[in-house]
Amino acid sequence: MPEFLTLDDIDVRGKRVLLRADLNVPVKDGVVSDATRIERLAPTVEALLAKGAAVVVMSHFGRPKGRDPKLSLRPVLTPLRRALGGRTIAFAEDCIGPAAESVVGGLRPGEVALLENLRFHPGEEQNEPAFARALAALGEVYVDDAFSAAHRAHASIAALAELLPAAAGRLMQAELEALSAALEHPERPVLALVGGAKVSTKLDLLRFVIGRVDALAIGGAMANTLLYAQGLAVGRSLCERDIAENARQLLALAAERRCRVILPEDAVVAAALETGAATQTVAIGAVPEDMMILDLGPKTVAAIGAALDAARTLVWNGPLGAFETPPFDQATTAVARQVARLTRAGRLRSIAGGGDTVAALAAAGVTDELTYVSTAGGAFLEWLEGRELPGVAALVRAAQRR
Ligand code: 3PG
Repeated sequence: MPEFLTLDDIDVRGKRVLLRADLNVPVKDGVVSDATRIERLAPTVEALLAKGAAVVVMSHFGRPKGRDPKLSLRPVLTPLRRALGGRTIAFAEDCIGPAAESVVGGLRPGEVALLENLRFHPGEEQNEPAFARALAALGEVYVDDAFSAAHRAHASIAALAELLPAAAGRLMQAELEALSAALEHPERPVLALVGGAKVSTKLDLLRFVIGRVDALAIGGAMANTLLYAQGLAVGRSLCERDIAENARQLLALAAERRCRVILPEDAVVAAALETGAATQTVAIGAVPEDMMILDLGPKTVAAIGAALDAARTLVWNGPLGAFETPPFDQATTAVARQVARLTRAGRLRSIAGGGDTVAALAAAGVTDELTYVSTAGGAFLEWLEGRELPGVAALVRAAQRR
């Protein structure tokens, strides 16, 4: 567990706190369509206000190339106000300079302001010291609650944390505690469930996970590549034939590290990836040449179920089939429900993350029933690769400076 300061360690009474949030939320026609990240930020804002601070919220939104009205943070104001019990929030049309200074300058303890999109300034993504200094001039204390952006060495995450006393917000703290509990000192056996389309994008993740867990179940199209690498026919399925050698090395590493690998024994196949397509369930090794593997079959779901029954800790990233296109959502949904059941019964500590995984859990209606569902996509993956996240490293350095 990285050593960092939390809200309990800092004195913010009468001070202006710069709060780095991740308000990079889905927006459709100017309206926020999923406010999860906003709602998960609210306890940190409330805690800071209760401690007598004025809170200046800052975030990136999208990937603008310069100032772009379509990527303004304004649409976030309404859901943020709602998440904060209807509190008034001042909005600054720029995140630095006179517009920011006049809004922030008028802020009193107990009040909140939101700054415009940090990425309207190139200095943000370039981790530019001058841009970080301009941000630092707006406050006296820095709190980072943006775990989901902690993999970006950007000015508001990295350089700024070096300029002010810095601590983790409640959401950052919860993410780090949950993730450390899953892989650093977990209750064993630990099962990792990894799915998704491509092995090639998760080679580092699989290598790291294999060294830490007792069993690894692989689903999604990435399993096809591992089956193919073992000489099994996968028909017209999505499969990365060019990395078969890497796939074999992964399996050899798992054997060496005594990590049991659970691969599909059977599959649901169809001629096309279409809603309501006619399907067959076939054994692996008997996939027809003109068919595609689109979901795990019932024997494989049962094998994963048995591994879940035996496990005490689960780390899950990636759907197990083409879950967005029913009926190929069945394995993912069945496994999600079992994870929820075991977690409810107190038999499993379950941690999940990644955009598709969170969507699959929501579709299965179990998001609130896991031990912890991360708000992070890319940062969760980089953490699962064992990489140092710049945002976390900056908080650790701040704690050491103190
Ligand atoms: C995310 O949504 O994963 C984070 O906000 C990071 O966004 P980015 O990939 O644009 O840096």
